[in-house]
Amino acid sequence: MENIISVQKITPVAHPILDSIKKRWSPRAFAQTPITENQLHIILEAGRWAPSASNIQPWRVLWGLKGTEMYDRIFNCLDDFNQSWAGNAQMLWINAFKKTMEKNEKENFHALHDLGLFMGNVIHQANSMGIAVHQMAGVKFKQALSEFKFSEDYHVATAVAFGYFGGDPDDLNEDLKKQELKQLRERKEQSTFAFNGNFENKK
Ligand SMILES: Cc1cc2nc3c(=O)[nH]c(=O)nc-3n(C[C@H](O)[C@H](O)[C@H](O)COP(=O)(O)O)c2cc1C
Repeated sequence: MENIISVQKITPVAHPILDSIKKRWSPRAFAQTPITENQLHIILEAGRWAPSASNIQPWRVLWGLKGTEMYDRIFNCLDDFNQSWAGNAQMLWINAFKKTMEKNEKENFHALHDLGLFMGNVIHQANSMGIAVHQMAGVKFKQALSEFKFSEDYHVATAVAFGYFGGDPDDLNEDLKKQELKQLRERKEQSTFAFNGNFENKK
């Protein structure tokens, strides 16, 4: 049986919140347990039911399971930094969105927002199954657009690494291992982003 290594994180919440939100974090080392196609479809189904502006559902996902050509094609589109750790993942995604509305060619200004909502559902469904999620902005976007034959109407936004919690931090280089083992998670205070009045003079 695989040795499960548990990295302990401290999340100093200022108010009581859902345990599932408190416990979520983004590892770079993952357990070696494979993710199955059935599990993938459960995760996608959670995303499918996310809200979106005018119910346009602008998100698009390309997926690959470890050991397949699709996984390798996605991996090759990651930037060098993310390639240094994302090979630990059991599943990789490229996330894109449709830039225009369904019924006309007008810009869908909320498409990126809605892809984020989709990913919120995905993360919490995956976490409930013991599967960790690490999103990545570090993608070679132009390469991904041409590699996967997207038309001009689509924007590649992110890549995502998935794998079971319980990875071995020794799978990472020294710098990333240090980050993985850092216990205290940090966030800005609410007063820096929420205002009961004008936004004037706020940085
Ligand atoms: C849209 C987005 C892009 C990100 N890009 C990267 C990335 O390219 N590489 C990386 O290692 N982490 C990336 N992250 C992970 C963030 O650094 C991480 O979520 C943040 O530090 C908070 O840590 P936590 O998720 O463990 O709470 C990204 C996260 C998001 C949401």
